[in-house]
Amino acid sequence: AYIVTEPCINCKYTNCAAVCPVDAFREGPNFLTIDPIECIDCDACVSECPVEAIFPDDEVPEEWEHYIELNERLAEKWEDRVINETFDALPDADEWAEKTDKLDLLQE
Ligand code: F3S
Repeated sequence: AYIVTEPCINCKYTNCAAVCPVDAFREGPNFLTIDPIECIDCDACVSECPVEAIFPDDEVPEEWEHYIELNERLAEKWEDRVINETFDALPDADEWAEKTDKLDLLQE
């Protein structure tokens, strides 16, 4: 499965969700997650993300490996919150795109 990682937090550009052929994206307040059960590893979303937040699970950078479990857990929690189109990014997304260590800001 593909994994959404830290750069997405407080950005949520949502370009990724519109191209997913199986509607695997789920939406939280300031992050999207991919349901690993739905994901068919098609790779379409990766190049859509302007902050390069999405990786195949075997290529997630080491510092973000905990996002693999996080995507799975949040996909279950946000099971009913399917997103399959692009909406406006969060306010100040472009500023947040530059920032690191955002995990504490993730809202569930
Ligand atoms: Fe997040 Fe990138 Fe999608 S910022 S919502 S993973 S386009």
